[in-house]
Amino acid sequence: MKLVKHIANLGYGSRREVQWLFREGRITNAAGEVLYADDPLDHDDVRIDGEPLDPPPGLLLVLHKPTGYTCSTKDPGRVVFDLLPPRYRLRSPALSTVGRLDRDTSGLLLLTDDGQLLHRIIAPRSNLPKVYVATLADDLRGDEAALFASGTLLLDGEKTPLLPAQLDVLSPRSARLTLHEGRYHQVRRMFAAAGNHVAALHRERIGGLALGDLPAGHWHALDESARALLFATNAA
Ligand code: URA
Repeated sequence: MKLVKHIANLGYGSRREVQWLFREGRITNAAGEVLYADDPLDHDDVRIDGEPLDPPPGLLLVLHKPTGYTCSTKDPGRVVFDLLPPRYRLRSPALSTVGRLDRDTSGLLLLTDDGQLLHRIIAPRSNLPKVYVATLADDLRGDEAALFASGTLLLDGEKTPLLPAQLDVLSPRSARLTLHEGRYHQVRRMFAAAGNHVAALHRERIGGLALGDLPAGHWHALDESARALLFATNAA
């Protein structure tokens, strides 16, 4: 692939705009020598205004989604892509969220431009646990853990019962819930089925990958070892 197309695909501009960056001498190699649009592609050696390029396709990002942001690209309000550099919205292949979190849910959200990886993460056979902490409007009754673990709980409007899920009570009004599937508004609907209401919801882990101390609104690209951790579901 030509260097100009590669840089345009990373969202730095249309091909025409990127041609101008070349003409202006803003695209160089690491040694500061000006590059030309048809030079061979050596991703790691390219600089734009002295800065290395964004990661090439095959990107996997972890974002600490704050509440108030939606995972859609079309919502007129705040969207998770607003938390990334604007050019990340223009990349080809496109970056998309791996599943969704509700507007009012915070926590670990993955984004990728790799369709195969996305499917592997959400595929039932990968069986990646998703771990949430729910803060509840009312005290837990005491029967929720058994109800959620039963494998027989049928949510309103659904034909198949939920897979068994694990509930760990943290306080009278908060609990950690581990799911092995991802149905629409699943956590909120599960607690509604148990006569409660989720006041706040946070996802802290997917598979072996924890959000850790990444502050809300921040993100970073995952390297190979972090990706391996994602699929290492027995990790602590
Ligand atoms: N379950 C929910 O109800 N909401 C989310 O955002 C994720 C899981």
